[in-house]
Amino acid sequence: VFRDDFPLLQRRIDGRQIVYFDSAATSLNPRPVLDAAYQYAATIGANVHRGRHTLAAEASAVFESARQSIARFICAEPECVIFVRGATEGLNQVATGLELSKDDNVLVPVTEHHSNLLPWMRVANVVPLATPAEAAMDIAHVADALEHSEARVFAFSHASNVTGVVQPAAALCRAARDRGVISVVDASQSAPHLPIDVRALECDFITFSGHKMLGPFGIGVLSGRREALDKLRPMMVGGGTVDHVDQESFILTALPARLEAGTPNILGAVGLAAAVAYLDQIGWDELQAHEACLADRLRGELSGIPRVRMLMARSKPCLALASFVFEGAALKPGELATMLSLHHNIMVRSGRFCAEPLLHRVGLSEGAVRVSAYLYNTEDEIGLLGSVLRDFGRRFTIRG
Ligand SMILES: Cc1ncc(COP(=O)(O)O)c(C=O)c1O
Repeated sequence: VFRDDFPLLQRRIDGRQIVYFDSAATSLNPRPVLDAAYQYAATIGANVHRGRHTLAAEASAVFESARQSIARFICAEPECVIFVRGATEGLNQVATGLELSKDDNVLVPVTEHHSNLLPWMRVANVVPLATPAEAAMDIAHVADALEHSEARVFAFSHASNVTGVVQPAAALCRAARDRGVISVVDASQSAPHLPIDVRALECDFITFSGHKMLGPFGIGVLSGRREALDKLRPMMVGGGTVDHVDQESFILTALPARLEAGTPNILGAVGLAAAVAYLDQIGWDELQAHEACLADRLRGELSGIPRVRMLMARSKPCLALASFVFEGAALKPGELATMLSLHHNIMVRSGRFCAEPLLHRVGLSEGAVRVSAYLYNTEDEIGLLGSVLRDFGRRFTIRG
């Protein structure tokens, strides 16, 4: 039903349509997102917050209205919606902005994306939290780890980009808060698929990327509790971040500008506002019902293929996302992804998905293939993938 809204899905390669199963890496843009960015460039074009002429005033109004739409979408105050390039920048801003030292412990699950691991490694002492790969974290176990690790920060992803596991984020944040630990939620993989309510989560910090939720590249959001954001040392300073400057010193301005140095990605913000409006219009109930069907079908197809070893959430809710390998196969994940693309226009990701510690732990150091579906995918497409994989399995698996 949603396919027609996505111009890219009209594209044909070798005369055949595209089956796009790489939305966890980046999602496609619906027409309103493309139109919004085009409209801004074609009719306003000016920079924000810097001028008094008509176009500059319109620019600021449109940009701030985008911030307000996004704030409503995640139930945050507009001043607590900080535009960043994406989740990686958001996490780096928090990690550096907290001014930690190597004596500070940061509890990080072993299942994390590198963007929620490396920033902490640089500035603090990372304490790995052993968590199941295919199930949500156990709150009592986390509470125990929070106490024993004497962590100052607990940073976790709301949903996994390797297994599609969705975490009970509110309960995890509460466990941290009850122990005076700062909570940081990487919502890169959850914001596209489920409602984010910053107030209900009561997290200190949360961040996500626009390009994974139908928006443009190079725009994302850092949000959280106002007092927590207020205390962050800006990763960058410069134009727009100050109230007063003299030759020796400067005084930082209030949120959100104090954390948004330099000219922002205005086209990105406008496009992201259009993306959240599009998601709002569909509604979470419809989107989640559709994705739950896709997830069930994906599990059914992959689990029915001989020698496929699948990594996929066993707990619910979960994403319509799974990683897999053919065990004992002559075909490496990258080769399989190439063949799926060349022969069937099926676009899947292969590799280690920026989550090497997790892939090592589950014995997939050579990487895997990842299928990630979104609202524009259909059950038929998953059926097609299943039959193609069954055929590959028959032809390329070494028997014995
Ligand atoms: C769980 C998770 N965290 C963080 C990121 C980083 O997002 P970005 O590259 O948009 O900054 C990703 C992207 O793949 C992700 O899946």
